Amino acid sequence: MKKMKTKWFREAIGYEIYPYSFFDSNNDGFGDLKGIIEKLGYLSELGVNLLWICPIYKSPLDDYGYDVEDYYSVNEILGDNNDLVNLIDSVHQKGMKIILDLVINHVSCEHKWFKEALKDKNSKYHDYFIFRDKPNNWMGFFSESVWTYSKELGEYYFHTFSERMPDLNWSNPQLRQEIYDVAKYYLELGVDGFRLDAIAHLAKDTSFLDSKLSKDLVLDTTKFSNRKEVFDYLKEFKEEVFDHYDCLTIGEVGGEASTEMALEYTKYIDMVFNFDTCWENGAYGSIGKSDEEIKTNLVNLKALFKKWFDACHHKCDMPLYWLNHDHPRVVSQYGGIEYREESAKMLGAVLLFMYGLPFIYQGEELGMSNVTYDRIEDFFEDVSARNLVKNGEYDEQTLLRFLRRCSRISARSPMQWNTKSHAGFSKGHPYIKVNDNYLMVNAEANLSERDSIYNFYKRCIEIRKENNELVYYGSFELIDPNDEDLFTYKKQYKDEELLVIANFSPKLKEIKVDSDYSLLISNQEEDITKLGSFGVCIFKKHIHKC
Ligand code: GLC
Repeated sequence: MKKMKTKWFREAIGYEIYPYSFFDSNNDGFGDLKGIIEKLGYLSELGVNLLWICPIYKSPLDDYGYDVEDYYSVNEILGDNNDLVNLIDSVHQKGMKIILDLVINHVSCEHKWFKEALKDKNSKYHDYFIFRDKPNNWMGFFSESVWTYSKELGEYYFHTFSERMPDLNWSNPQLRQEIYDVAKYYLELGVDGFRLDAIAHLAKDTSFLDSKLSKDLVLDTTKFSNRKEVFDYLKEFKEEVFDHYDCLTIGEVGGEASTEMALEYTKYIDMVFNFDTCWENGAYGSIGKSDEEIKTNLVNLKALFKKWFDACHHKCDMPLYWLNHDHPRVVSQYGGIEYREESAKMLGAVLLFMYGLPFIYQGEELGMSNVTYDRIEDFFEDVSARNLVKNGEYDEQTLLRFLRRCSRISARSPMQWNTKSHAGFSKGHPYIKVNDNYLMVNAEANLSERDSIYNFYKRCIEIRKENNELVYYGSFELIDPNDEDLFTYKKQYKDEELLVIANFSPKLKEIKVDSDYSLLISNQEEDITKLGSFGVCIFKKHIHKC
């Protein structure tokens, strides 16, 4: 029977947790599920009410859980299945919701399906994967060929990501049923939905002809991204599973997805994550470039947000985010690190009042910034960094500069709780080094200071909740779209209007605001005729219609 969809997520404020790096309750150096339970008070105090937990499944940790060894057990480093049930219950008791990351494009090569597939070409599991006699010139996302030779079978298997993460063959109906069963299992356990990992890649160009983009190995995403069969699979997934639960489904569709595709995707799932707004400073793939060449183009950034709002508003829901566990820290990306405090508040305020379901990434509410390790090895817990270094194309200084700017490790360095050793994340030895700035940047200090970034986020979240209709359903208008420093937008709904003015530069900027607006929040002193470095002001007014 179909279940009524209540769209509860339209009132939610999301928070993403990378569980290995959040809080270590048993001091083995890795965060865990009990650690999340211990910190639920901190999260509910902040005001977030929807948690997205990155993969929790048993995994050899080549890609920290995105390589699933067993869909039905919690990785023992994180705890056990009982801890997951406790986490779900505890989250619900706090009046929050929880969604899991469901990884369905690939598994780990340690998964029993893959092991069976390698034993016997005639086993049913062989067709759960994609095998070919010959490789072609397609490159995957982790700087290597999508094909790896299996000496057991004398065939090559396909992997969009690391060679230890073989892709599943979604054209096989039996495999699809296996995945639907996994989803049902977790929905029955009580989770409120899923972030669906890497779903853009479920279907490949099955001609497997060489890409014409180059004679050499080349990343040609058209060969395995957003192909039309993906929509058939998602339609079936919806009919078999999602329609029967009041659940939230958010698909990760990556940077290649257009707004038209988003409308197609949202016939079957609630919303999609694309990354258009995450790299508008040229940092993506910027290896070899100097830091001076990396500059945020605010005019483009604003236009990208507008493009997505224009396409989705009133037509489909969408998530809002500055970053996730695959991106650099947003204060380092779009803020000014010398103005970390102001930047972090400004970025939080700009995000929280736009259209969509906001997701704060762990530590964003503390203004956590990129790590600046001195050794390349300190970035090696990320398989994509290891592969880049392995390729041997770049010298050490070039690699280090790039990794400090772009590495996924910046989002994954341990959450900074206090000034104790390892930032209070663990009494053991953390699996990733803590950011050196933890004595200054940590939750304890943030909680104790009235004007902290955390308290600013908290207040913005309260204001967002009080004005949710206006924010969610109101129109979005960019003011002075060509201004290179100011991000100014208006939201209007019924007889209310919200005005957000944010300075993305260190310069002092004059602003003019009509006297009928009242100030809701700002990250600077009372003078609102000027915006200081990375300043932000949010105003509201009632519109008197005659
Ligand atoms: C997604 C995840 C990323 C992971 C990849 C492979 O892009 O966000 O962390 O490495 O999929 O699963």
